[in-house]
Amino acid sequence: MFYSIHRYKRITSTNNVAKSLAEEGAPEGTVVIAESQSEGRGRLGRIWVSPPRDGLYLSIVLKPAIPIAEMWQIGYVAAVAVAEAINEISELDARVKWPNDIIVNGRKVAGILVEVDNCGGTHEPAVIIGIGININMKEFPEDVADKATSLAIECSKEFDVDNMESCLLSSMHKWYSIYQDEGFDPIFNRLLELDCVIGQQVTIQTPNGVVTGKAISINKDGNLIVQSEDGQEIAIFAGDTILQD
Ligand code: BTN
Repeated sequence: MFYSIHRYKRITSTNNVAKSLAEEGAPEGTVVIAESQSEGRGRLGRIWVSPPRDGLYLSIVLKPAIPIAEMWQIGYVAAVAVAEAINEISELDARVKWPNDIIVNGRKVAGILVEVDNCGGTHEPAVIIGIGININMKEFPEDVADKATSLAIECSKEFDVDNMESCLLSSMHKWYSIYQDEGFDPIFNRLLELDCVIGQQVTIQTPNGVVTGKAISINKDGNLIVQSEDGQEIAIFAGDTILQD
């Protein structure tokens, strides 16, 4: 996969622009990078704060030859790639909090937004992988101040955003190539090594309500399996995980 990089100073959201390009027929490997976003989006309808120079905000258009129903797997490819890129650049121990938050010392340092676009049936379906990495932020808005962190906060030094970008793009290239050549198994195995949820008491906010219990595994369909207090095992496909202390 070769990257074709589109750079912007300020746009609404790199995912929005990547989606439009995909709908116009942009090839796999199209990357949209912005210095800042006015409407950066997170999962579950949240805002992704995107101040200039403090973070990396990019979206990658991928067109894997798999059914749309399996495209969620690409979110895990990205989670592994982002965690490894952060660890390479910072020597931190970034981990994946199911489904694809990247956590350092219990706080979120990066997030991944996976959006599938069937391109109106006129082009092949695309999966847009939006990645936000908190790099040089020193503080966060009040509502996320106790949950978010940045590489600068964790390492007490600033990082070069361009360096993070090239490290991330090569990590994505590596893991997406592995996925294409060998399928989901190596991604899944690496994900389990990087996971920080299994064995923990968790509260999961799912689209169907709140589930509390012990996270016991992640299955190959991408579900987190939570054992509730009455011993029932619940498979969760989407949600937001809160680790209990
Ligand atoms: C999450 O909620 O954890 C996902 C956050 C994803 C943020 C990135 S920043 C680049 C891309 N553009 C967006 O609007 N969102 C993603």
